[in-house]
Amino acid sequence: MFRFKQELRIPGPTPVPPQVLAKASSPMVNHRGSVFKEKLPQLARRLQPIFGTTEQIYMVTGSGTAGMEMAVANLVSPGTPVLCLVGGFFGQRWAEICRVFGAEVHELTYPWDTAVNPDQVGDYLRKHPEIEVVFATHNESSTTVLNDIEAVAQARGDHQALLVVDAVSSLGGVPFAMDKWGVDVVVTASQKCLKAPPGLAFVSFSSRAKEKAAANKSRSYYFDLAIYDRYWARHEPPFTPSISLLFAVEEALNILEAEGLESAYARHRLMRDMVRAGVRALGLVPLVADEHASPTVTGVKLDGADEWRTAIRARYGVEFAGGQGPFAGKIFRIGHMGYATPLDMLTSLAVLEMSFAKPGAATTAAELVWSQTK
Ligand SMILES: Cc1ncc(COP(=O)(O)O)c(C=O)c1O
Repeated sequence: MFRFKQELRIPGPTPVPPQVLAKASSPMVNHRGSVFKEKLPQLARRLQPIFGTTEQIYMVTGSGTAGMEMAVANLVSPGTPVLCLVGGFFGQRWAEICRVFGAEVHELTYPWDTAVNPDQVGDYLRKHPEIEVVFATHNESSTTVLNDIEAVAQARGDHQALLVVDAVSSLGGVPFAMDKWGVDVVVTASQKCLKAPPGLAFVSFSSRAKEKAAANKSRSYYFDLAIYDRYWARHEPPFTPSISLLFAVEEALNILEAEGLESAYARHRLMRDMVRAGVRALGLVPLVADEHASPTVTGVKLDGADEWRTAIRARYGVEFAGGQGPFAGKIFRIGHMGYATPLDMLTSLAVLEMSFAKPGAATTAAELVWSQTK
């Protein structure tokens, strides 16, 4: 099969629009010069509506995990009691990073095919008033579950704990209201719903989180918030950033702003609903219930999923993702985030219906969903 028009349907990195790729090859500028001093605060301002915050947004050169590590490095010291909400691979990652920084890690685990129960979080916190930080995942890409972060934030009540959220695979595709919900730190990355290549993370801290960070003895140099703030005072990044990726993200934001955030959120919900209707029409079963279903990636149960994916890649040139943890080899995941359209979903579903010898079944169901959506 012709291999050069790639169909990348994984939950990141996602396809990048050609105009975004083109911008990434713009000539370098001085990252301490006048152009960059304008660009850095401008970029932060443009990201604020996506985070739902008026707080500053820090840009870190590194992948999403670098943003996660920046959150931990500034809030956790050896012995800090933290609660990690673990219902998937990325929840586990919070716990692993916290252990590296010497935290006393409490884990509230929940089944990998469902969302965290906010009442359980509230109960756990009431029993453990010493917990200082809660680490949660908004969109668990590994399990294709969207967690209700607003409810988790509310469940804290008047408990002292800060709430830190990995929104790496949701921001730009799913609404988020950091300030309104009372979230203290939010992390995202360039290569998911933002439609740019991997390599930049963005992190925002509430004033409460900044106070805690100031009192924390950070054991990291590259991620030390105090260094970022010192340079921010003159609108400079502390270290040489990925200038090319900043150009790319600017262009990607042009596209997102032209679409409008609400339309982007509606597009992601529509793609989710089309995919779920399509796979069900083939007799396949989505991994998670509708109420927890991610708008950016869908998991589908399938015995022998990895062999099937290999065959699909070879025959049709479409790349779906596999399962992780307990779902390895038992599910495949269809990414529908960022530079993806409802029409792209029909292409993916066409591949599925051909593969399962049910021509027209999945696309018909999905088209119905699309045609009934305003
Ligand atoms: C929910 C979530 N968190 C964190 C990460 C880690 O990001 P990265 O691979 O960019 O370090 C990912 C990446 O897939 C993710 O989907």
